[in-house]
Amino acid sequence: MWLDRIDIRNARNLSAVSLTLSPKFNIISGNNGSGKTSLLESIYLLSCGKSFRTHRFSSIPMQGSLWMGVYAKLSSDQQRSIAVGLEYRDGKNIFKADGQRLKKASELANYLPVVAIHQESQRVFTQSPKYRRAFLDWGVFHVERDFLSAWQNFNRSLKQRNAALSQRGGRLSSVDHWNIALSQNATLIDFHRSHYLSRFMTLFNQCANQLLLLDGEITVDYRRGWSDKEEYLAVLRSSLARDQVMGYTQKGPHRADIVFKVNGVALHEYVSRGQQKLLVCSLYIAQAMLYSQIVGRGSIFIIDDISAELDSQHISNLMNLLNDLDTQVFVTTPADALLGGDLFPMTKTFHVEHGKVTEVL
Ligand SMILES: Nc1ncnc2c1ncn2[C@@H]1O[C@H](COP(=O)(O)OP(=O)(O)O)[C@@H](O)[C@H]1O
Ligand SMILES: [Mg+2]
Repeated sequence: MWLDRIDIRNARNLSAVSLTLSPKFNIISGNNGSGKTSLLESIYLLSCGKSFRTHRFSSIPMQGSLWMGVYAKLSSDQQRSIAVGLEYRDGKNIFKADGQRLKKASELANYLPVVAIHQESQRVFTQSPKYRRAFLDWGVFHVERDFLSAWQNFNRSLKQRNAALSQRGGRLSSVDHWNIALSQNATLIDFHRSHYLSRFMTLFNQCANQLLLLDGEITVDYRRGWSDKEEYLAVLRSSLARDQVMGYTQKGPHRADIVFKVNGVALHEYVSRGQQKLLVCSLYIAQAMLYSQIVGRGSIFIIDDISAELDSQHISNLMNLLNDLDTQVFVTTPADALLGGDLFPMTKTFHVEHGKVTEVL
């Protein structure tokens, strides 16, 4: 499935943009502040109802405008076209697909799975474990059916156990009930995560090898959130006193982390910024490949400012890998950068200037 047409109204500095897109490469070029990222942001909004730039949706509508909208026609080789749309007004979002109003924004992703790589993406390596857990769990959730319910049940029980821990006296007796509920779900979460990672790492290394030269294989240390040698139930029971002092459950899959390494050194401490960017791309491309292998559906890629921090050889490696993926791709780049995308068939180039987008013919 690919985006055939897109119409954007009043999203940041894009007042009225209507484009017919390439099912393969779409290169969006323009000067700083012209509206390139806003164009990608609009596509991403339509895929999940969220922005990759802000948590405050209210900052997205064009200043002075009371509403905004993004509408698209999705096409595929097998099925008829589907119209999807998103509108925001009076502080509320409305999502529609195929003539029906959707209950939740997350349902949009069923129509339009989009992977976005942008300025903040490198935090998956450099910042807190929550970003790595989010990355891992996105992958696991999409390929393991019972993962979501195990995760939801775990979190519900975790809240209950934490509440019981912080109550003096009485309810401590109920903690063991939550210990048992937690341990069943934790074991399942851990099993799925570790199984997913072993499949994922092969693809991750393959993608990384296509993009850059590293002098060693990438390995991952999966830290499940509690000792590898102990059952979670035993850990919960033995850490009761300490948990009570802290007032929350310290160990468990909610504290898991994955640390990528090259030659035993944490990846982000080993490689250059440009290499790290290529590894972020490898990470997301490998995840999309695995998703496509298992679920049978491709993802659309958007890469903001593809040329930043990369030399022409490495940009070309990345474009080649994306070309092999057989998926729709949107990339932005400064007006004067050369991407070599024109070398691939089915490339459309768009130029953005002060919020106006024109196709370069
Ligand atoms: N809500 C808004 N209304 C109007 N203009 C906005 C809004 N939010 C951001 N902008 C402006 O939109 C312009 C385009 O930004 P952006 O898409 O990030 O540019 P680019 O990625 O091409 O450098 C910027 O000049 C920014 O100031
Ligand atoms: Mg930008």
